Amino acid sequence: MHSLMTAMIVAVATLTGACGTDGQPPADQDSGSQLSEAREMFNAKCARCHGIAGGANGFFSDSLHPRPHNYTSAAWQASVTDDQIREMIVRGGLHMRKSPAMPGFPTLKNRPVLDGLVRLIRGFAKRP
Ligand code: HEC
Repeated sequence: MHSLMTAMIVAVATLTGACGTDGQPPADQDSGSQLSEAREMFNAKCARCHGIAGGANGFFSDSLHPRPHNYTSAAWQASVTDDQIREMIVRGGLHMRKSPAMPGFPTLKNRPVLDGLVRLIRGFAKRP
């Protein structure tokens, strides 16, 4: 039963998230456009599971077990390095011994927008 659920979640994740068609070549980008490209990508590919502001309150968040962490939490922010965030996005949960519902985005490897996503996720932290 559990493995069936997992298979279904992977299927949904594949259909909804992992089939990226964002094959643009890496461009020289200043950090402002890097961040706005990341914002667009996050809205399109990540927010449904992670919430528009990273609060784990997206359309699918409730149906994910485990659900994604709340990126506004200072404790979560302190628990991961930038490299771990990058690796999770590129490789996906299945290859990181985490939830297979987290799709991998291998085409983002070494793309400037990957750093933009890290900055965006860091920016979700609640300001004191
Ligand atoms: C189909 C739902 C889904 C989509 C789409 C998705 N994620 Fe995730 N993501 C998850 C889940 C569930 C986890 C939690 C994995 C765990 O902790 O076992 C996760 C974990 C992560 C993590 C690791 C940190 C953490 O929460 O433990 C990062 C970073 C992340 N996702 C970024 C992204 C980005 C960036 C995108 C879009 C490019 C994205 N995700 C798209 C479901 C999703």
